Amino acid sequence: MNILVTGGAGYIGSHAVSLLIERGYNVVVVDNLSTGHIEAVNEKAKFYQGDIGDYEFMTRVLKTEDIGGVIHFAAFSLVGESMTNPFKYYENNVGKTNVLLKAMTDSGVKNIVFSSTAATYGEPENVPILETDKTFPTNVYGETKLSMEKMIKWYRGAFGLNFVCLRYFNVAGAHQTENIGEAHNPETHLIPIILQVASGRREFISVFGNDYDTKDGTCIRDYIHVIDLGDAHIRALEYLVSDGESTVFNLGSGEGFTVIEMIDAARRVTGHPIPMKVEERRTGDPAKLVASSEKARTILKWVPKYEDINIMIADAWNWEQNKRY
Ligand code: UFG
Repeated sequence: MNILVTGGAGYIGSHAVSLLIERGYNVVVVDNLSTGHIEAVNEKAKFYQGDIGDYEFMTRVLKTEDIGGVIHFAAFSLVGESMTNPFKYYENNVGKTNVLLKAMTDSGVKNIVFSSTAATYGEPENVPILETDKTFPTNVYGETKLSMEKMIKWYRGAFGLNFVCLRYFNVAGAHQTENIGEAHNPETHLIPIILQVASGRREFISVFGNDYDTKDGTCIRDYIHVIDLGDAHIRALEYLVSDGESTVFNLGSGEGFTVIEMIDAARRVTGHPIPMKVEERRTGDPAKLVASSEKARTILKWVPKYEDINIMIADAWNWEQNKRY
């Protein structure tokens, strides 16, 4: 089956593309390269540089390539930027997804796996978070992802589009044999920044707040390896193609680590002292985000292989030292 991956030049998208190819799929990538890297796209994928918001272009790709399913990653994803420039996020994430969905339904493409986020929940009511918990995003980024989920649901009602929305928690690690990994500009995520300290590209890591109600006062997050995440996307696609019911799944490990625990783990993996400075809390950071992924484990038979944070950090460290984009 031919699969279209939007945003296949991004961090998570490029890993999903490589995994799909390893599993024998024909992969077509659409990416406008506004934040992605052409070097990250597996050379066995067919690449189109273009915009998912361009209806004529998308219809042409979907029809010419005889696409059976779409995995939709293309989006802006910086929480801080989304708060100061909501227009950019609504226009790109929500507006262009609307065009993609129209192009899909007009071209008879019935299956979509959507890259959603734990940010759709906002400050959680319960931990671990269940898919049925209330969604009340505390930032524009999460709000746009929730709007995209809802839009997809309405297209299901109108056109019979089948969907799986995957809400993931904190993605980490890198491919173990191909030289691809996380490369955002600016980088805002914890693990790459910690590793930039270890590689000498930064002097210290700023810890945003140590007065949260957690064991060491720093925020708790649930980390998931990017390869396990890619595997979940393929399972979700196969589930849809075999007539699985449209639904939402959380993807995480079910275990939480504090910011200081992550720094300590990186110290062990890299052998570097990684100096840290405690600073003010970052606006909008929930104290604790941990997923229940029981639903994905049961229905998609998803079994993450790399739940050990030492492996995630070691793979990210390998990438940090061999980065080529
Ligand atoms: N942190 C620091 N210092 C840094 C960077 C981060 O202390 O320099 C802390 C943050 O305050 C937070 C934790 O490390 O407590 C993790 O922060 P990240 O920015 O790595 O990740 P977030 O949890 O904020 O967000 C990530 C993704 C979002 C997604 C969200 C869902 O970046 O896209 O997970 O939980 F929406």
